[in-house]
Amino acid sequence: MRQVTLAKSAGFCFGVKRAVNKVYEEAKKGRVYTYGPIIHNEEVVKDLENKGVKVINRLEEFQDIPEGTVVIRSHGVAKEVYDFLKKQDLKIVDATCPFVLKIHRIVEEHAKAGEHIVIIGNDKHPEVEGIKGWCGPKNRTVIQNREEAENFAIDGKQKVCIVSQTTFNYKKFQELVEIICKKGYDIIVLNTICNATEERQTEARAIAKEAEAMIVIGGRSSSNTQKLFEICKMECENTYYIQTLDDLDLTKLKSIDNVGITAGASTPNNIIEEVQKNVRNEF
Ligand code: F3S
Repeated sequence: MRQVTLAKSAGFCFGVKRAVNKVYEEAKKGRVYTYGPIIHNEEVVKDLENKGVKVINRLEEFQDIPEGTVVIRSHGVAKEVYDFLKKQDLKIVDATCPFVLKIHRIVEEHAKAGEHIVIIGNDKHPEVEGIKGWCGPKNRTVIQNREEAENFAIDGKQKVCIVSQTTFNYKKFQELVEIICKKGYDIIVLNTICNATEERQTEARAIAKEAEAMIVIGGRSSSNTQKLFEICKMECENTYYIQTLDDLDLTKLKSIDNVGITAGASTPNNIIEEVQKNVRNEF
């Protein structure tokens, strides 16, 4: 009999669950807009669209919307986005994850104290875009890789405050912090990586180590799912990245007795359940 191990930490984290629930609640009351897709999952976004929720990708587009509710997603936004939305005649429902809000408060406070903010993360990720918007335009640097960490240089008298994108890989964060710390600046390091991510990554690694095949479920553009995939692939050669059951070639699992499953933070439970059920029943 095939053994299927589903990670306990697979799927929606607390922050995403909270944000998605808020959109569904608001959609019952009237017209709802989200600034960017509420999560990196096409299925959920489509379902919400059917309930009248519209995704707005450019801030200026809100100027043409006469009324309704804007939900700010769990990634959070820059201060100027709040300021802009407040000027429009729209109700704002803030679903920024409290862990991300905490980073906004940290960088705002440390930037005000004159420190240089280093954000360890992906410069293009909406969460990092949002964080940048709380530390002013000049005194901040986003670092994503070794090269950027090695090239980091500022005025030696300025203090440095290091934070991280919540979904950044913990080991990589430590590695980059170590490189920056060797430069001799007066540094304060605040590990703002969310536990949900760390736990999901640790559990995925442990399951992939034991599994003959590993399935990672999540949206193509979800960075935390991509990271999960990288981690699992390192431990288990037969790792498959799928968005839904349709992407999974079950014939590849035919002769495999031990399958592990995990899913990114924005993967809905029904998709995970469906994959699990089919993998269990496929002999
Ligand atoms: Fe929040 Fe952590 Fe999820 S920061 S959105 S609970 S991954």
